[in-house]
Amino acid sequence: MKLFLSEKDIQKRVSGLAREISKDFAGRELLLIGVLKGAFIFMADLTRELSLPVKTDFVRLASYGSGTQSSGKVEITKDVETSIRGKDVLVVEDIIDTGITLKYLTKRLKARKPRSLKVVALLDKPSRRKVDFQADYLGFEVEDHFVVGYGLDCDEAYRNLPGIYLL
Ligand code: IMP
Ligand code: MG
Repeated sequence: MKLFLSEKDIQKRVSGLAREISKDFAGRELLLIGVLKGAFIFMADLTRELSLPVKTDFVRLASYGSGTQSSGKVEITKDVETSIRGKDVLVVEDIIDTGITLKYLTKRLKARKPRSLKVVALLDKPSRRKVDFQADYLGFEVEDHFVVGYGLDCDEAYRNLPGIYLL
């Protein structure tokens, strides 16, 4: 495994994102919706850096396909537990790959009429995109490599690594 982003690199970027988000939402309350499981560490760090009143919730999604090939069929297997209607919502995701998961999730959430809906992703692999999707706030771009650590897994392993590694 090769180190891609150190703990320090990540910490700096997360602080920068939190500053940007805190500025954009100044005077408002934000509902963060973390996408399980990959985003749990990013969510924990980002939440603590925001200088806003914040509430948190989580969703979990499953996508079906054979092996590494996503079929494009996604389902919410654990939904948020509160109403998002009229709220400023920020979806927190670890990585955008094909874009299928976030395209589906944001469409479903928008239908519930939040006041605003934005997405922050720590990582993005734009070269892998199958459907058009862009995060509003982005940490880092990655080439077409599988990455692990800081919440991201390979078969549930490596989520606990403090840095991010190319597998
Ligand atoms: P997609 O954008 O719908 O293709 O799916 C993105 C999801 O795939 C992310 O939330 C991750 O759970 C997973 N994923 C994609 N690329 C990686 C990677 O390099 N490492 C770990 N998980 C990944
Ligand atoms: Mg994920």
